[in-house]
Amino acid sequence: MNIKHSRSIEQLVTGVATSDGAGVKLTRVLTGKLQRRLDPFLMLDAFGSDNPDDYIAGFPDHPHRGFETVTYMLAGRMRHRDNAGHEGLLDNGGVQWMTAGRGVIHSEIPEQEDGIMEGFQLWLNLPAKNKMTAPWYRDFPSAAIPEHVTQDNVTIRVIAGRACGIEGAVMREDTEPMYLDIHLPADATFDAAIPATHNAFIYVYRGEVSVGDTQVGAQRMGILSNTGDGVRLTANGNTRLILIAGRPLNEPIVQYGPFVMNTQEEIHQALNDFRNDRFA
Ligand code: CO
Repeated sequence: MNIKHSRSIEQLVTGVATSDGAGVKLTRVLTGKLQRRLDPFLMLDAFGSDNPDDYIAGFPDHPHRGFETVTYMLAGRMRHRDNAGHEGLLDNGGVQWMTAGRGVIHSEIPEQEDGIMEGFQLWLNLPAKNKMTAPWYRDFPSAAIPEHVTQDNVTIRVIAGRACGIEGAVMREDTEPMYLDIHLPADATFDAAIPATHNAFIYVYRGEVSVGDTQVGAQRMGILSNTGDGVRLTANGNTRLILIAGRPLNEPIVQYGPFVMNTQEEIHQALNDFRNDRFA
């Protein structure tokens, strides 16, 4: 499908090197100061290393409340366990979608001692009315992610939302998230339709893409302007990127570490509930 008017790149963002969990090295691409601009998205971490020291310690038991986490593993194996007794293995090309809702305590631990571990974790906010919903999660192995290949040999993996007439692995009301992994051969072009209501960005993890006159290289995020009916992506060489879009909630965002609520009182409540073992 061709779009009429492409969004442009409003801002290029270089992530911030940091570590989290028990010392996992990662790049925080979407940081706190972009939460308002990219509402309903709260965080995007990119991780990628073939040095086990960078990832082996993983993320031991930690809580979440008030939002959803979406982990997309490009390469590697990670074991997930939570306080509701769920357990799952996330590996090459698989996605774990978790709705923390009123509270989850979980661990995310690599199940490999060498090789490459590469992927993303995205935090998607929940509307106020759903922040205390029952926790939910699902693991999607790679084969369960719907894919479409265009005439130009562009592969689109539809993790969430609708693209190329197909429905993604996860559909959500309220924020209507769209999460695409797009693989473009050199010089190929792909038009992605994006609802006008949505905030959107791309993150290039291989190669380089042109959007209008702007080049977005590897390890760069391009925030898309809120004009136009989609985005036209043209690859300068073999390129892989994720395209993420969602309908903003326009509600207050109050974050304290792994708790994201609407008010300070709700954060105090979350801390209290966590300390008093009420996340079970
Ligand atoms: Co977590």
